[in-house]
Amino acid sequence: DRLFPEKWLLLLMKYLPSPKKTFPALFNLFRQGFLPSDQVQIFGYARSALTDGGLRDRLRGYLKPAKTDPSKDPSSVVKAFLDLITYISGPYNTEEGYLKLEEAVARHEELTSGKKGETRRLFYLALPPSVYPVVSGMIKKCCMNQRGWTRVVIEKPFGKDIASSDKLSNQLGQLFSEEEIYRIDHYLGKEVVQNLLVMRFANRFFLPLWNRDNIDNVQIVFKEDFGTEGRGGYFDEYGIIRDIIQNHLSQVLCLVAMEKPVSLNPEDIRDEKVKVLKAIEPIKDDEVVLGQYDGYLDDPTVPKDSNTPTFATIVLRIHNERWDGVPFIMKAGKALDSRKAEIRVQFKDVPGDIYRCQKQGRNEFVMRLQPSEAMYMKLTVKQPGLEMSATQSELDLSYRQRYQDIVIPEAYERLLLDTIRGDQQHFVRRDELRAAWEIFTPLLHRIDRGEFKSVKYPEGSRGPPEADRLTEQVGYVRTHGYIWIPPS
Ligand code: BG6
Repeated sequence: DRLFPEKWLLLLMKYLPSPKKTFPALFNLFRQGFLPSDQVQIFGYARSALTDGGLRDRLRGYLKPAKTDPSKDPSSVVKAFLDLITYISGPYNTEEGYLKLEEAVARHEELTSGKKGETRRLFYLALPPSVYPVVSGMIKKCCMNQRGWTRVVIEKPFGKDIASSDKLSNQLGQLFSEEEIYRIDHYLGKEVVQNLLVMRFANRFFLPLWNRDNIDNVQIVFKEDFGTEGRGGYFDEYGIIRDIIQNHLSQVLCLVAMEKPVSLNPEDIRDEKVKVLKAIEPIKDDEVVLGQYDGYLDDPTVPKDSNTPTFATIVLRIHNERWDGVPFIMKAGKALDSRKAEIRVQFKDVPGDIYRCQKQGRNEFVMRLQPSEAMYMKLTVKQPGLEMSATQSELDLSYRQRYQDIVIPEAYERLLLDTIRGDQQHFVRRDELRAAWEIFTPLLHRIDRGEFKSVKYPEGSRGPPEADRLTEQVGYVRTHGYIWIPPS
């Protein structure tokens, strides 16, 4: 059943300048019948003085009706969605706005559910983390008159290191239970990331190969071909490790490396992820390369002497029976030569290789998260023709070709649906968050103290050459689609 049997209510606190991801995601859910008009109301709350119409006007441009919408007039779908949205303005740190909000919500609840029906509220805090404690405190105090569940969704950054993250967790933990808190990491909502466990644990192929005996190295890569683009102020305070590696890439690493959970229960899955994070060894100085792209300091919101890395390659090593000795190379950077995110698992050379071509053409299993989701295996095959020569080819599952009729949902769409359904599998648990901070905090503190320098790299390049050298030094062998012709 795609609809929700009981009445519930969605309450959204939105940091208005960035409605790019959440509102389109809600709109897509609405279009597909997941947010029935008679059961859902969306309240925007922020400081800006806006009317309902003002907010709707701001959002309209971000909402794209699909060609497949059943309605003859697609703009009526947009209108129906926008009609669900009410706006209340108020400050974050005093009660007045929240009381107004409570009144508006309660009025709506009474209209739709009567005085006794169940009512549910989902608070989505897309806000600077510094105001999470005060905003969630105000919500707890003023906006909790529902008769049904409460869920609070928060977005990263969840702190800047272990201490600040613990502080935030404690503050939120005093107000809401862990079952009520949904920490979003939108990488967990990406299609290929969601496929990782299915792929690993439902295929006989992978089960015996997925270990240190067969895998030489793993790369988890995030590249963007644009810089900080107006977010310099935010970014400079955090840097690429806090922005991408500590959360998005570490979450992906967990799914690549974890043991099979005893069941698909969210807690069982998250238990295994925590174990992987806890088994990661301290990062070694000579297994880190930091970079900063050339034009970064030209951003007026960035201090002229900033050492904040916009690029990092960091080798992580998992000290357990499955992965001992296998480097996990985490690489993330802004203003690089392309935009892509992928996981690249490189296998060891074939022992006693009679074709002697494996050094140039190792087996690889690549999962491309974006753009154009795909999974492919690089293998060595005979070059078709009269000659007996070997070449590299791919067994390729490109989603766009294979699943032509399926629209791949956006990460936020899926994760928002999970919050409504109450499924915490793809959200970060408190102990997971702490274990991820534990890995990176010592390095981050040294960078903050200026003890670890970022090297410059040109915009639009592959990043600092030192990073490629490190990647190869720890075992990665670049492949070139090599063709080998045996000696006659
Ligand atoms: C965000 C980061 O979490 O993820 C941004 O703060 C980054 O710096 C973005 O650009 C990347 O997300 P995606 O889905 O476009 O890869």
